Amino acid sequence: MAKLKLTVLISGRGSNLQSLLDACALEDYPAEIVQVISNVPGAAGLEKARKAGVPTAVVDHKTFPDRISFEAALNTVIDDAAPGLICLAGFMRLLSDAFVNVWRDRIINIHPSLLPAFRGLNIHERAIEEGVRFSGCTVHYVRPEMDDGPIIVQAAVPVLKDDDAESLSARVLEQEHRIYPLAVRLIAEGRARVTGARVLLEDVAEPEKSLLNPCQN
Ligand code: GRF
Repeated sequence: MAKLKLTVLISGRGSNLQSLLDACALEDYPAEIVQVISNVPGAAGLEKARKAGVPTAVVDHKTFPDRISFEAALNTVIDDAAPGLICLAGFMRLLSDAFVNVWRDRIINIHPSLLPAFRGLNIHERAIEEGVRFSGCTVHYVRPEMDDGPIIVQAAVPVLKDDDAESLSARVLEQEHRIYPLAVRLIAEGRARVTGARVLLEDVAEPEKSLLNPCQN
């Protein structure tokens, strides 16, 4: 079967991009990255893509007078590669309703919280401040509202008593690197279907038991 073509949009470090590059390097993985685009010229993720032999492009939002012209340029570059799916991986620009609607159900994002909790920024600081016992990460389809959209995969991690934002973020990031390739696989294999506000998954294994934090009675 033909592999699902991915365009990955980044703005920075690109560790989630790297997890997708690693997955795509496996012969039996059902997707391939055809292009990586950054809105930030020096983004470290660009080098990761180059090392993997993936074509890169920069569409620098600062060189455009407004969002409409930036997104028009972005769309032109994306259309060249004709991807089946756009993966936002630390892409730090808000996308307009028009852009999101053009790519509806063909654009996904990864967010470092258990959505719908903790949308926006400074997630780990806020999770610690609120005293939640679990945090995590989410891969979801993108909708015009920020950090909104049908959820494909989530991973939960415990928040430990000595955590600061850095330690919690590292624990969450490890799981991000597992769930992004998993979510893309589910989509590429036709096992994730958007139905209203939900994603129905087919042919997946589900966890049986609950998690406790703390564990003892
Ligand atoms: C990740 O935490 C991701 O969930 C968020 O931005 C961060 C990007 O990190 N959207 P990286 O560039 O993938 O390393």
